[in-house]
Formats: sequence, C-alpha cells, structure tokens
Amino acid sequence: MQSNRTLMVLPGDGVGPEVIKETLRVVDWFAKNKSISFNIKEGLVGGASFDKYGTPLSDETLSDAVDADAILFGAVGSPKYDGVEFEKRPENGLLRLRKEMDLFANLRPAMVFPALVDASSLKPNIISGLDILILRELTGGIYFAEPRGIEEIDTQIKKGYDTNLYTTPEIERIGRVAFDMARARNGKVTSVEKANVMMSGVLWREVITSLHKKEGSDILINHMYADNCAMQLVRDPKQFDVIVTDNLFGDILSDCAAMLTGSLGMLPSASLGSVDQNTGKRHAMYEPVHGSAPDIAGKELANPLAELLSLSMLFRYSFEMKEEADLIDEAVSRALDAGPRTQDIMASGRVKVGTKGMMDSVINKLEELTK
Ligand code: IPM
Ligand code: MG
Repeated sequence: MQSNRTLMVLPGDGVGPEVIKETLRVVDWFAKNKSISFNIKEGLVGGASFDKYGTPLSDETLSDAVDADAILFGAVGSPKYDGVEFEKRPENGLLRLRKEMDLFANLRPAMVFPALVDASSLKPNIISGLDILILRELTGGIYFAEPRGIEEIDTQIKKGYDTNLYTTPEIERIGRVAFDMARARNGKVTSVEKANVMMSGVLWREVITSLHKKEGSDILINHMYADNCAMQLVRDPKQFDVIVTDNLFGDILSDCAAMLTGSLGMLPSASLGSVDQNTGKRHAMYEPVHGSAPDIAGKELANPLAELLSLSMLFRYSFEMKEEADLIDEAVSRALDAGPRTQDIMASGRVKVGTKGMMDSVINKLEELTK
C-alpha cells in the first residue's frame, strides 16, 4: 500500500541522526506490520553536507527534497561551524529549504502530555491540559528581507542591519491558515506583532483585521503585542488557542511555548507550503523543535519522541494517514504513562534510558495497541 510515495529523510547534525535513526524504526514497523511503505530517500543537510560538499545544502539534495512527497528533517547546527562564513553555516541549509519550497506556514503545537505535567517549570494548574498552536510565518520578515548587511560607516564604526518586511499577500496567506487551523480546534486566533512600534506590525494588524472581517467571522480574534504575548504565555497559557505571528516573534515565542510543556524533546513541528492548484499537492517538511543539541550529541541521550511525533504529523498532514498518526500519538502517550524515560523528562521512580530505549518502549506500545 502507498509505496509510490517518497519520503525524504534529512538527518542533519548533532542529535538529528540519532533521533532519525530511531524514528525510522517506526517507519519499518509500519512496513512490517501494516504493509505501509514508502520510497525512502536520504540526503545530507547542514554541517554534514558542508563537510562533504562544502555547502549546507547541495542543489541535488534540494531538488530531491522538492520532488519528495514529504520531508522528515532532523536538526542542523554545531559550534564546530562557528568560524565558517555566514552563508555556509549549517542553519542556511534549513533556511534555504524553507525559502525554496516556500514553506511559509510553520505549525508548532505545544501540548502537555498528562504524564509530563510535573516536568514543566510552571505550576501544574497553569499548564495541565495545555494544547495551543503557534503558527509562525516562516519565509518572510527579518529572516529574508533585504536590505541586510554589515557595512562600514567609517574606519572605526560599522553598522549591522536587517529589514523586517511583510506584504499584504504574505500576511493574508498565513492569516488564512490561522483561521483554518482555529476552525479545526477551538475557534480562537491571537494575532501577535508590535504595531505600537513597527510599521510592519501596523500593516500586519490592518491586514489580519480586514481578512477576519472578510473570511473569518466565525473565528474569535484578538490582537496582542509580542512582549505582552511572551508574558501571557507564562502567566496563563491556556487563554490561547492559535497564535499567529511573524517569523522572528514566532521563533522566540515558540521556544517559550515549548518549554511550558516540560521538554523541548517532546515537540514536533510542520512547515507547509501552499496547495498547488493543479496537483493538489503541497510541499511539507516535518522537524522536531529541539534542534541539534550539540551538548548531548553522539551520546545516545536525546529524546526521540519529538522526531517521532513529527513523523506522526507527516502521516496526518501529508499522507492522509490519520489512523496511523493517532496510533503513534497513543503509543507515545502510553509509553509516557508508565515505563522508562530519557533524561530530559526523567521522574522519580522511572528507569532512565537513552534514545534507543525510549523508542523500544514506544514500539512495545505499538505492538500492544495492535495485538
Ligand atoms: C528554529 C531555529 C531556526 C530558526 C535556526 C536553526 C535557523 O531556531 O527553527 O526555530 O531560527 O528559525
Ligand atoms: Mg528557534
């Protein structure tokens, strides 16, 4: 079944290859036990690609990624490349993939698994049952807009500058995704910018407001400044349903939201392009929020669940495999209820395991659930 689909796997750097390796065991599990298989194509990205090809993303790998039905991404980055020229840093491989495939909608859910309520640094009553979605604009704003640069003002002084720029269509398309997501959730969108300080923020608020009038009257909308949003996220995160925001604020607020849940090691994300009118397909890349975690890389300590939950999102959003995605989510939840844990979510009375041990536990639950 479905063996005509291509899954591109880009493990990258740091803990990326470790968590990808374990997650592919679940892909194998579906092939063996459910006869669902894909064409799997692997490629290099980030520092791993730089070491081999002198670039963080080769044209060949990019073209394979563009052709694939979905991409499962690990992580990029390592202090090893700090001295490398800016354009060739590992992060640029990721940024290029986002830009070239126009993956403008970045979904970063932050949900608290019941078994992990105590793993958060916040009080249980603040975060238990939390389920919010940060929708980050991913291909515009200060990450890409020109002009940007470092220039000399005179021989003593330089200036470094970036541009935060958004156009009406860019704001409208992410706003539309926010309304769609809210419709499938709890019907509420909080649009976040700094319209009190930034012109791009003034336009953002204007466009979202008029889009809401035209296309979102069934959605409850409110507007919030980004600094207030950061504060509200730790004060009372359950007030939110969908937060839609620009590329930079989304980067920052999603790290904050992630930590509410106890561990970065638990959170998946999806980056989606627009639906092609002719083929009905959309480019999509799935990656854990945690990044390459150089401090624990190579030690088999990383929690593989964010990567696995990214695979679950991939099944759900790109492969229309809702049942299988639900199965993964349920297996993860049960593995957390009882059984061993990786160090990042360790609790007293549990056995501590590494990356492989954590996945063994989930695969056991998959077996149990399908017996
Ligand atoms: C993220 C990361 C990236 C970003 C880095 C690795 C370029 O922090 O996905 O949140 O800033 O977007
Ligand atoms: Mg980030």
